[in-house]
Parts: sequence; C-alpha cells; structure tokens
Amino acid sequence: MATWLVTGGAGFIGSNFVLQQRQAQAARIINLDKLTYAGNLNNLAELRHDPDHIFQQGDIGDRELVARLLADYQPDAVIHFAAESHVDRSIHRPETFIETNVVGTFRLLEAVRGYWAGLEPAKRAAFRFLHISTDEVYGSLGPEDPAFTETTPYAPNSPYAASKAAADHLVRAYHETYGLPILITNCSNNYGPLQFPEKFIPLMILNGLQGKKLPVYGDGQNIRDWLYVTDHCEALGLVLAKGTVGASYNIGGRCELTNLEVVNHICRLLDELFPTAASAPHSGLISFVPDRPGHDRRYAMNISKIERELGWTPKESFASGLAKTVRWYVDHPQWVEAVTSGAYRQWLQTHYGFGS
Ligand SMILES: NC(=O)c1ccc[n+]([C@@H]2O[C@H](COP(=O)([O-])OP(=O)(O)OC[C@H]3O[C@@H](n4cnc5c(N)ncnc54)[C@H](O)[C@@H]3O)[C@@H](O)[C@H]2O)c1
Repeated sequence: MATWLVTGGAGFIGSNFVLQQRQAQAARIINLDKLTYAGNLNNLAELRHDPDHIFQQGDIGDRELVARLLADYQPDAVIHFAAESHVDRSIHRPETFIETNVVGTFRLLEAVRGYWAGLEPAKRAAFRFLHISTDEVYGSLGPEDPAFTETTPYAPNSPYAASKAAADHLVRAYHETYGLPILITNCSNNYGPLQFPEKFIPLMILNGLQGKKLPVYGDGQNIRDWLYVTDHCEALGLVLAKGTVGASYNIGGRCELTNLEVVNHICRLLDELFPTAASAPHSGLISFVPDRPGHDRRYAMNISKIERELGWTPKESFASGLAKTVRWYVDHPQWVEAVTSGAYRQWLQTHYGFGS
C-alpha cells in the first residue's frame, strides 16, 4: 500500500478526503494538521482505531517536524490541503494567511524537495506533490465572461486569494526549477458534511435551524460555482493517480448560483423538514448586510480539461448534494454543538486519543 502525507486533513475538505481514501484503502495516511480553530479531530472520529491513519499535530512550517515525518514514513505523495481558508478572516487578519499559505507552503516545499532528492530513482520518479488551490486566484468575472480556464491569468482580489496564488506560483516554480513532480488543482466553492459553520452554506443551515437571521452580503447576487465535497475529493484522487506532472486542473460543479438562490434553496429544504417551525417559512429570516470589501462578483470554472483528460465529472447535482448536506447537519447535533461551543478544541484530543 502507498503512503501519503496529507496536510490539513482535519479540516473540511482534507477530512472528507482522508475518510474517502481510507474507506477505499487507497493508501496509508499520515495526517499533519496544526489544529487551528478550523481543524477538528471529531471529523476523523471514525478512524480512531484505523492503524493506517496516523495523526500528527503540527505546523507545515515546522521544517524539523516535516523532515522527520518524511524520513520516518517515506511517503509516495504529499497532498497539501493545509491553509487558512476564510476570506473574511483574511480581510481582518491577513498575516496568518501569509504565514501559513505562503511561508508554510514554501517551507513544506523545501522539506519535500530535500526528501525527494534523496529517493532512489524509481520512487523519485513516481513521487507526487499535489497542491490544493482555489478558483479565487483568477479574480472576478463579469456576467457574460467565459468561465476560468487553466490559462486564465491570475488576478487575486482578497488577501486569502493572493496568498493562495503565491503558493500556487511557488509550487509551479519548484517543478520548473528543481523538477519536483507537482500537480495543482484549482477548485470552486465546496459544500457538504463537516464544513466549519463560519462558511456560507453551513452558516445558513444552522442559523435557519435556530431561527436566527440569515445574513446575505450586499444584494445577494454574487455568483459562485458550487461543488459537493466528495466530488472534489474524487477528482483529487484521479489527478494524483493520472494527472500530468507539472500541470494544473480546474475543478468545479458547473453549477453557478447567486448567494440568494442558494439561501432560498436551503430555506425550502428547511421548510420541508420543519414545516411547523416558528421560523417557517425560513426565507423570512433572510437579512441583507453591508457587502464584503473587494467582494468578487462571479466565479465560474471551465472543467473541460479534467473531464477530457481524466474522465472526471461531478456526480452530485446541487439539489441532491444540498439535501444531503442539510440532512447531515440536522442529524449531527453533537458535532454542531461541539463546534459552535468551541468544546471540540478542548476535549476531542483526549476523547479520541489522537495527538502528537
Ligand atoms: N472550502 C472551499 O470551498 C475550497 C475551495 C477550493 C479550494 N480550497 C482549498 O482547499 C484546502 C482546504 O480547505 P478547507 O475548506 O478544508 O479548509 P479548512 O479551513 O476547513 O481546513 C484547513 C485545515 O488546515 C489546518 N491548518 C491550518 N494552518 C495549518 C498549518 N500551518 N499547519 C498545518 N495545518 C494547518 C487547519 O487546522 C485545518 O484543519 C485549502 O487549501 C483551501 O484553500 C477550499
């Protein structure tokens, strides 16, 4: 069995990826995560007795730790999710985004380069560094503009997007300069189980369930291209297995919706599940709030390349994926309670016996 070093595997997409790949027994996984506020070991609870999932709390910027993990476990691939990921937080405190997304990625690349250079030729040739990035590096589209392709020039508008763009450039440069066998994926907005409730869709679901206001930025007409998280994870598995070294792949849902359409869809699902709730119809909770500075108007991904070259296509429709997501949050009150109260940070480590 292959061994992968996954960074950020206690976050939303990383944990979905780790769970999916461990279920398929695709690889032994060494999971390196700093457990910032966004890292939640509860996401990995079902792996607590899995000997092929090894959790290590730590920072991607800790060269000694990363070098030790690489030397000890001799991974065949590094799959790099770890990042500060919330645009609003990047507006208020950009520094941590530079530290983790730029400097952290740089230090990780340096450690990996040293390890990779010392591998014997066959393992060296087969090694892959998969860097997970975002559509936000491309900037914002006008209403009639064609969707982003892999050759769209980068034009990031938020500190988050700029830090991810910088990381993408570094990863690419490590291939061009040192020959490190990298792959880059740029994906649109994900949604699904295990997403931290500061993000748009879980925030709306949970506020709706509690009869709280549903805050929508500006006029609610900002457009995002939504993808169900397990579809993203499957695409990553394919890129890792079959992607062309040095290439980048756009991943998206071909599902452009305004924020207002998304909230109304959530409200309809909540109305169906809880028709007698005091807050039904839930659309009455929608409340417009002042727009986010530099708020990109529209993102859309052209996913022809990954469809053509790797045969990937999203399986989940927005209707089916959103219904599953709402159901998941309704069915996991303990997860929600631990996250919203902050308790997940104190007790999970002891409870599940993970840790450094
Ligand atoms: N969520 C989306 O819609 C989306 C879309 C496209 C791309 N991405 C990218 O996918 C990746 C994962 O996103 P997510 O939504 O799962 O993020 P997340 O915020 O839910 O999780 C990030 C994880 O990284 C960990 N982490 C943060 N700093 C670290 C550090 N210095 N060292 C080690 N671990 C650290 C956190 O503890 C957390 O577990 C990110 O790189 C993000 O840019 C996200």
